[in-house]
Order: sequence, then C-alpha cells, then structure tokens
Amino acid sequence: MVKKAVIPVAGFGTRLLPITKAQPKEMLPVVNKPIVQYVVEDLVEAGVKDILFVTGKGKQAIENHFDMNYELECKLEKSGKYELLKIIKEIDKLGNIFYVRQKEQKGLGDAILYGEDFVGDEYFIAMVGDTIYSKNIVKDLIKAHKKYGCSVIALERVPKEEVHKYGVIEGEEIDDGAYKIKNMVEKPKVEEAPSNLIITGAYLLSPKIFEKIKQTPPGRGGEVQITDAMNLLLKEEDIVGIEIDCKRYDIGDVLGWLKANVEIGAEKLPEFREFLKEFVKNL
Ligand code: UTP
Repeated sequence: MVKKAVIPVAGFGTRLLPITKAQPKEMLPVVNKPIVQYVVEDLVEAGVKDILFVTGKGKQAIENHFDMNYELECKLEKSGKYELLKIIKEIDKLGNIFYVRQKEQKGLGDAILYGEDFVGDEYFIAMVGDTIYSKNIVKDLIKAHKKYGCSVIALERVPKEEVHKYGVIEGEEIDDGAYKIKNMVEKPKVEEAPSNLIITGAYLLSPKIFEKIKQTPPGRGGEVQITDAMNLLLKEEDIVGIEIDCKRYDIGDVLGWLKANVEIGAEKLPEFREFLKEFVKNL
C-alpha cells in the first residue's frame, strides 16, 4: 500500500515571471481550480491521503487554499449559496496535509529530501506541483509498482528536438509501454540523448532514494537533481518507467499553462466547447 506523497512547491517559477513574483505558480488557475488542487485530488482518489508539501517563502497561498476558511463558509451559508459552500468544504477535507519549508531552492532532489522523516521506510509518491495529467497518473504508478515491485516513474515520448529540456531515459522495453531503466541523463543535447522518452515529474520511489539524494553532489545550476539520485539508486534497485497514455500539461511555462486552460476548459465546460473550438480556429 502506498499511502504517502511529497509535493515540492518551493521553486521560484522564473519561467513564469512576472506572474510568479509574489504568487506561487502552483496556485495558478486551470479553468476554475489551482493546479495543485488537481495534483492533490488525483492522489487522494488513488488512496494516497498523507501529503507533505515542501513549500518555501511566499507560498502561503497554498496553505490557505487547503485550510478551512471559516468566514467565507459562514457567508456562503448565510446567503444560501449551498453549491459553492459544498465545493469549498470539499477542499478542506482533501487528505491529511502537512507542510515543511525548503530553506534554499537547491533543486527537486533537495526538496524531496525534506520528506525523509515524513515518509519513513515506505514506498512513496513524489509529484511536482506544476504538472497535471488528463487522467489519474498516480493510479497507473501504483498499478505498475504492484506488478514490478520496484520504483516506477512516468515517462512521455516527445519529439527528439525537445529532449534537451528534460531528464531522458535509456531503457529496455519489458512490456508494452514499460521500460526497465538502465540510465538517465538530465537535459542532454539532442545528438547525445539516449532516447526521446522523458521523465515527466511523477514518481513512485523507494525510501532508499533519500540515502541516494544525500550522496548526490549538486549538478546543473548548483541544484541537487532527483535524476542523478535515481541513477545512484539504479545501482542497487530496479526502476521501471511507464509511458503515459494521456496528455501532460507542464504549467511551469506560459504555453503549457495556456494549453491546459483551453483543453481542460473545453473538456470541463461543455457549454463552451464549441465556442472554444471556433475561437482557436479563428485565431
Ligand atoms: P521546476 O524546476 O519546474 O521549478 O520544478 P522552478 O525552479 O520553480 O521553475 P523555473 O525553472 O524557475 O521556472 C518542478 C517543481 O519542483 C519544485 C517547484 O516548485 C515545482 O513545483 N521545486 C523546484 C522545489 O520545490 N524546490 C526547488 O528547489 C526546485
């Protein structure tokens, strides 16, 4: 049973400046919800209810969002807005949420390490707080973990010319869409990339990863990369990558955020679907 998750949300979000000067990118709206609520909802729906946010300076809006807002709830109740009240109350009940602050933004690996005491000696999920999927990817990670009994990471096949932006795997296909990973390279040059299968930011990891993060020297940009730590883990334990069969929205850049709003908007708000299609066609 995988019961715990760590969601790092401490990054500066520089690709989205100036939006992120004073507000967390993880709180940007996709249609009518902040990105991070989609992440938490998928976890809870998959049975992963103990969730640790690794936050940082200026990220209090995330805590406020998952806290009860008593004044607002009273106001909605008094004015008879029961539908809205129900929506707000549901957020209060999403999982058992904990917070810890990353002291310096030293990378995703360093952020995940803040989860060590919370996780203990169990397999756990780590999800970046700025990426969402068009289906519940957490369920797929857990299913694959049950099958292969090891760490599992979500992969996506991208056009070759885009690999330089991501962690890229070298692996052997062991089942349809499942790869036994042999090596991982962070942001390779196109000509040096071992494949076009990229690491998307959804991980189900063995607790041994914490020891490996501690052994990982800072890599690119002085940041402790989770990819480097996973390479160390590979020397002792298997890691399987599963290719996602859905859409992934990386909200960390402006285009990803715009695409998510248009596509998820068209899906979640059927009354606007035809209008949106026509609108995009006429741009
Ligand atoms: P990113 O690398 O996309 O976040 O990390 P970033 O550093 O905020 O982005 P840019 O490049 O400056 O635009 C993915 C996730 O990991 C978190 C981020 O908040 C994001 O949700 N993160 C990243 C941390 O929690 N700590 C870090 O040191 C780095």
